[in-house]
Amino acid sequence: MSGDLAGGPLVTVRGVHRSFGSGPTAVHALRDVSFDVTAGTMVALVGRSGSGKTTLLNIVGGLDHPDAGTVVVDGAEVTGLDDDGLSQLRRAKVAYVFQTFGLIPVMTAAENVGVPLRLARMPTAERERRVELLLELVGLADHGEQRPAELSGGQQQRVAIARALAASPRLVIADEPTGQLDAETGLSVMALLRGVVESEGVTVLVSTHDPVMMALADRVMRMHDGQVDP
Ligand SMILES: Nc1ncnc2c1ncn2[C@@H]1O[C@H](COP(=O)(O)OP(=O)(O)OP(=O)(O)O)[C@@H](O)[C@H]1O
Ligand SMILES: [Mg+2]
Repeated sequence: MSGDLAGGPLVTVRGVHRSFGSGPTAVHALRDVSFDVTAGTMVALVGRSGSGKTTLLNIVGGLDHPDAGTVVVDGAEVTGLDDDGLSQLRRAKVAYVFQTFGLIPVMTAAENVGVPLRLARMPTAERERRVELLLELVGLADHGEQRPAELSGGQQQRVAIARALAASPRLVIADEPTGQLDAETGLSVMALLRGVVESEGVTVLVSTHDPVMMALADRVMRMHDGQVDP
């Protein structure tokens, strides 16, 4: 597969524009954004509130469509996919970690982690083994039976990361995954993401406001007013 070429780009973004509204009140959230993300690296996306980080992450992950431009992830042109293609992309290649964790409250931690594996129709025994492994990876081996409300914020975010990794995605997109956490817990969540870049070989694109987090990234990409600094 194209993305397995070590050092090649896993993500290619070219000439992306995205506006909201029209006329004089239009907001130009992204203005001619182009960049690559090298496979197997962690890229931190930073910039002031409103600079376009979330808009960009949503477009890279196929949650939103640009007005112009192209996005290619692991050889698939995201911007050319229909709804079926996009669901398949999200099932097979791209996983999200949201600022608000996004766990299903009535499910235990283990059940939450297993959701993408159920969607992939992995047999039960194999699924349970993988869930156990993932919970261990994020340091929550003893917390699998707890529901999100019975876990701390940092633990919930680690469950969300385990879930994101469950189906072995090529790309993990994380939008301010530490925004709701104290500095120390946030750092441990970022360190965990950093670790899976090495151990699972995934590529991580993460937005953050925390300068401390940037030190962990292979590359810091700055956004200003809808544009990515060269
Ligand atoms: N659905 C929308 N409708 C209208 N305007 C939007 C919409 N989504 C984003 N915007 C505007 O686009 C610009 C970029 O927003 P975006 O959410 O991408 O910023 P951000 O860098 O993620 O900010 P933050 O750090 O606060 O999360 C902002 O001016 C915002 O108001
Ligand atoms: Mg945002």
